[in-house]
Amino acid sequence: MQSKVDQIIQDIEFQGWSLKQNIFTQDQLHLMQELFDSDFLPAKVGKSHQLQRNEEIRGDWIYWIDTLNPPLVLKDLINFLEQLKQSLNQNFFLGIKEFECHLAKYPVNSFYKTHLDRFEKDSSRSFTFIFYLHPAWDKKDGGELVLYNKSGDVVETVLPAPGSMLCFISEDFPHEVKTCFRERRSLTGWMHTKIIN
Ligand code: OGA
Ligand code: MN
Repeated sequence: MQSKVDQIIQDIEFQGWSLKQNIFTQDQLHLMQELFDSDFLPAKVGKSHQLQRNEEIRGDWIYWIDTLNPPLVLKDLINFLEQLKQSLNQNFFLGIKEFECHLAKYPVNSFYKTHLDRFEKDSSRSFTFIFYLHPAWDKKDGGELVLYNKSGDVVETVLPAPGSMLCFISEDFPHEVKTCFRERRSLTGWMHTKIIN
């Protein structure tokens, strides 16, 4: 796990984002599928006092994870994030205090239009990470994450390969999730420069 963290640190230094394959094995992904039977809530958009569901912007359903007391099958993932947090702080002096994450489920035909994570809800969001947890994915299933730079040029189009992980400096990369044609499952979260909640 530490070598993956080191590779991510190198990528972040070089380009501000990182994509790593095979963070999880098929067996681990298989065990994680039960998490997606939880009671998911429709993800909303807008500021905290004016949150609303708008499927023209985002159609995913989410389930927040208690990072201090995570489900057993997520222990390795949370430990990995803890190591990543420490390395990010040591290498880039980001001053990350803690992270939050939720599971996300995109039903068939849903998407998430281009947005910046940073200004959506909380300006302390400084680093975004996404683990793709569906057991299988094919090119024809769509659901690509498109990463843009601040000028709007495409930086990378990421097929959400099972067991892979994408992360990036939140404020530097607007991004979108293209329409998916199979249920798309992930764990998404943010590292914060202040204590949340
Ligand atoms: C988000 C998001 C991307 C993805 O939840 O803010 O952009 O690939 N997710 O799931
Ligand atoms: Mn986002």
